[in-house]
Amino acid sequence: MSEQKLIQEFNERLRELSVEGLWSEASDADMATYSKDPHTSVLPHLWKWKDLYEAIRTVGEIRGLDGMAERRVLRLVNPAFKDSKNRRQRATTHTMLMTVQLLKPGEIARSHRHNFAAFRFIVKGSGAYTVVEGEKIAMEEGDLILTPSMTWHGHHNEGEPIIWLDGLDNPLLFSLQVITWEPFPGAIQPIKKLSECTTPRVGMARPVWEKPSDRPAYNLAYKWKEAYQTLKSLSDSEGSPFDGIALEYVNPEGGHTMPTISCGIQMLRPGEVTKTHRHNSSAIYHAFRGSGTTFINGEEFHWNQGDCFVIPLWSWHSHQNRSKEEAMLFSMSDRPVIEALKLYREEPGEGA
Ligand SMILES: [Fe+2]
Ligand SMILES: [Fe+2]
Repeated sequence: MSEQKLIQEFNERLRELSVEGLWSEASDADMATYSKDPHTSVLPHLWKWKDLYEAIRTVGEIRGLDGMAERRVLRLVNPAFKDSKNRRQRATTHTMLMTVQLLKPGEIARSHRHNFAAFRFIVKGSGAYTVVEGEKIAMEEGDLILTPSMTWHGHHNEGEPIIWLDGLDNPLLFSLQVITWEPFPGAIQPIKKLSECTTPRVGMARPVWEKPSDRPAYNLAYKWKEAYQTLKSLSDSEGSPFDGIALEYVNPEGGHTMPTISCGIQMLRPGEVTKTHRHNSSAIYHAFRGSGTTFINGEEFHWNQGDCFVIPLWSWHSHQNRSKEEAMLFSMSDRPVIEALKLYREEPGEGA
């Protein structure tokens, strides 16, 4: 018997024992992704708002979804994953999912909680509110509302049709196989008194009778009005060479927005061109206002208001705003996870 045949038979015997030799083909495939630089299967991609808006409006007309408001949602599926048989892997990056959600006037998305963290960034409409842990939070364009891990949340619309982006870390939690989800008993949460809410307790002036450990460990709402004012106040600063006037929505106790997700808003001033860099965290962007171009590994992605795009990890990228108007990019990133594992790396590009 040839040596090759003997090895094949041996491999077969090992497989039956649920064992595999490092010389096998499957291991070769693994080795192909081992190199000096990290390897990602996530592809850069841009979704046009025109297409997303048209699609979500059509979703609003699906009568079969009446009474199931929480299902009027479109996932942004990375082209690298669109043919995956595993529904859970059909996400925007390997760690994050961004979706577009519509809530029609009079509709209620029933309260529930889960251990994956999520946020809403309000894109269009007004008159709706989210209830997080009994706290009623108005939804206005440009506001960021968090639903940290295990917080009860539901949405109500008493105004015009409202569209928001959801950002979630559930692809990461799916791969850790720790996902939990549960409905709120009775579906609708009672509303708390204002004095029991987060906002008056986590600002820069705080009640002295509360121990830090009794306070909520997060801020739930970041208003666009305040973020915009801060961006404008800093507009004549040098800013970040890679991101312009960029802000992170921080946790009031310090650190990133949430343990697994960092959210940011950046202003690219008229004519601003940033330097190139790369990092081993991934990011999903949404052009909230204005237009511009992002270069990802040399490829140009032109964006206008409403468009969403992905910058995969370790891709060289820079932004340009060649217009006469300011441009605002909202973004989510998995950087807190990579940092927590002490794996974060960042590199400036040539000439940066
Ligand atoms: Fe949820
Ligand atoms: Fe970056």
